[in-house]
Amino acid sequence: MHRIKQSLLPALLFIVAGVAAINGLSLLRHARPAGLIDVGTAAEPDALDDEPIHPLPRKIDLDPQKVVLGRRLFHDSQLSADNSISCASCHNLHRNGADNRAISVGVAGAKGDVNAPTVFNSGFNFRQFWDGRAETLEDQVEGPIHHPAEMATDWPQILEKLRADSGYTAAFSSIYAQGMNSRTIKDAIATFERSLITPDSRFDRYLRGDANALTADEKEGYRLFKQNGCSSCHQGILAGGNMFEKFGIVADYFADRGRIAKSDLGRFNVTGQETDRYKFKVPSLRNVARTAPYFHDGSAQTLKEAVSVMARYQLGRQLTARELDLIVQFLETLNGEYPGGDP
Ligand code: HEC
Ligand code: HEC
Repeated sequence: MHRIKQSLLPALLFIVAGVAAINGLSLLRHARPAGLIDVGTAAEPDALDDEPIHPLPRKIDLDPQKVVLGRRLFHDSQLSADNSISCASCHNLHRNGADNRAISVGVAGAKGDVNAPTVFNSGFNFRQFWDGRAETLEDQVEGPIHHPAEMATDWPQILEKLRADSGYTAAFSSIYAQGMNSRTIKDAIATFERSLITPDSRFDRYLRGDANALTADEKEGYRLFKQNGCSSCHQGILAGGNMFEKFGIVADYFADRGRIAKSDLGRFNVTGQETDRYKFKVPSLRNVARTAPYFHDGSAQTLKEAVSVMARYQLGRQLTARELDLIVQFLETLNGEYPGGDP
């Protein structure tokens, strides 16, 4: 298939790798919010530093009071118009920080337009949302609060409800000089989200020098992941989350799928630039085996299907059943544990 396009592939990969390198630099600029994160990989003598994927930090230094307050807000349905939906309704911490639906459901059964990404490890994304329209986790909170198909509310409504709760007013005034307002609510929620890390996956233990943490098949899957060029886009701490890329580089995903919606235009909706049409934030592959279905449109039911679509549309390759199986086995080693316990 696509003989001409195939011959362009080396050039395309070269460009992708160049973009990846540039974005690797931007990761350094973006991934460390305000001195909160100690990404101590360099200090670890055995870490495989020249690999495209880097281990998640085991611990993040955060204000524990803000984390507790943010956790409560994250689970509080008063943040929605009819008190029915909390952040956790769509980002369930028992479901790996997502909702396992193709498309999320908000207040009064309203259907959204894209798949909910996990909040786990979201503090490491260089931007938030599929199209990157929020620069920070703090800005991101504005999205679901106001979205008519999510929480459908506004700050005056939320503040009125939360101010009636003396537990909240006391907690806010003990942490923040300004007390409770939209800014401090966003700060607490974002701080809680930064605590949602899943370190110590088997793959991270391998990166940190434990050669026995992976089986021979999983190592072979990782080799195929790199050799086929997956790691030109899925790289860094999250195996993703540090660049925008077009969905459908080698073949036209959207023409083949049909029914193109506004949410399919991706980054174009933010910048209005033709070159950003169909571009999305490359999603993290951390815990990806646990967050089906896949893609912004929730169209791939299984990880195997998602990998096969990627190989075909991003790389112009038809992987064998064995290769698919090995790559999926490797991806499963990116499952970590959320150590924070549940509320
Ligand atoms: C009705 C379901 C729903 C609710 C409620 C909801 N979200 Fe989301 N969340 C989504 C969907 C869908 C997306 C992807 C939207 C997009 O990219 O356009 C998303 C994206 C995100 C992201 C970006 C992750 C990434 O990888 O880009 C974060 C962080 C997040 N939500 C946190 C929150 C917080 C905090 C709240 C509560 C204030 C919340 N969400 C409420 C469904 C929901
Ligand atoms: C040119 C960049 C690029 C390459 C190469 C690439 N991907 Fe992706 N990947 C993306 C983008 C962009 C998305 C998001 C697509 C969407 O949903 O709009 C994605 C999505 C995914 C997803 C779905 C994640 C989720 O949570 O929905 C998986 C799994 C994945 N890629 C694995 C792979 C594998 C395995 C390879 C190699 C066979 C690969 N990718 C190659 C850019 C790339």
